[in-house]
Amino acid sequence: MLGAARMDEWIDYYDSTHTIYASKLHRDLHFKLIARDIIGYIASPDAVVLDYACGEALSAASVADACGKLYLAEPAPGVRGRLIARFAPNTKIRVRSLEDLTRMAETSVDLVVMNSVAQYMTAEELDSAFAVIRRLLKPNGRLVLGDILRPEVGMLRDVLALLKFARSHGFLKDALYGLASTALSDYRQLRTRVGLQRYSEREMIDKLAAAGFAASRAHQNVGHNPWRMTFVARHAFQRN
Ligand SMILES: C[S@@+](CC[C@H](N)C(=O)[O-])C[C@H]1O[C@@H](n2cnc3c(N)ncnc32)[C@H](O)[C@@H]1O
Repeated sequence: MLGAARMDEWIDYYDSTHTIYASKLHRDLHFKLIARDIIGYIASPDAVVLDYACGEALSAASVADACGKLYLAEPAPGVRGRLIARFAPNTKIRVRSLEDLTRMAETSVDLVVMNSVAQYMTAEELDSAFAVIRRLLKPNGRLVLGDILRPEVGMLRDVLALLKFARSHGFLKDALYGLASTALSDYRQLRTRVGLQRYSEREMIDKLAAAGFAASRAHQNVGHNPWRMTFVARHAFQRN
C-alpha cells in the first residue's frame, strides 16, 4: 500500500535521471508500442485526446497525427519542460500540468488514457484523478486505464514480461544488464519502501463505478506486459 505522505516520491523519481528503461532501444520501443495502442482507441480523426501522466511520450507525434488535438499532462516539472521543448513545433500538441486539467472546459475530451500511472497513486489520489477525468470527458467519451497491477501477480512476472519483450525486439542483453542494475537502483528501493498500488479486476471496476464510470476489462493490456490489466470506462449513464 502506498503511504499518503509518500505519494510525491514516485513523481520525483520519474523527474530524476532514472534507469527504468534498459537502453535507448527499449525506451523508444516502449513509447512506440504505447502510441500504437493509444491510436487503437482513437475513434475519429477529430478526437480530442488526453494522455494523463504521459511521461516522456516520445511517440506523441504519431498519436497527434491520428487525432484532432492531443493534451499531454504530466506532473513531473522536469519531464514537462522537455515535453514543451520537444513538441513546441507541433500545433496539435499541448502540454499541461495535472492542476491545469481542473481548469479545462468540462465535456471537452473524447479519450483519456492513463497508462501505467495508477500504481504510483494512493487510492484517494486515484479517486481525485477519476473525478477530474469524468468532468472532462464528453458524454460518449472513454477512459482507458492501462497497466494495472493485480494483487496476486508479483515482480517475477514483470521481469519475465520484460525479458520476453526484449528477446523479441533484440535487446535481451541490455534488458539483463538493466535488470541487474535495477535490482540495486532507486526504483527497487522505492518499490520496496513506498510500494505500488494493486487492484483486482473487481476492485477496479467497483472503484470506477463509485467514481461514476461503467467499466469493463479489455482483452489486451496497453503495452508489453500481458500480466497487467487495462480497463475501458465510460460515464455510467451512457449505454454502449
Ligand atoms: C511509468 S510512467 C508512465 C508514463 C506513460 N503514461 C507511459 O505509459 O509510458 C509513470 C508516470 O506516472 C507519473 N506519476 C508518478 N506518481 C504519480 C502520482 N502520484 N500522481 C500522478 N502521476 C504520477 C510519473 O510522473 C510518470 O509520468
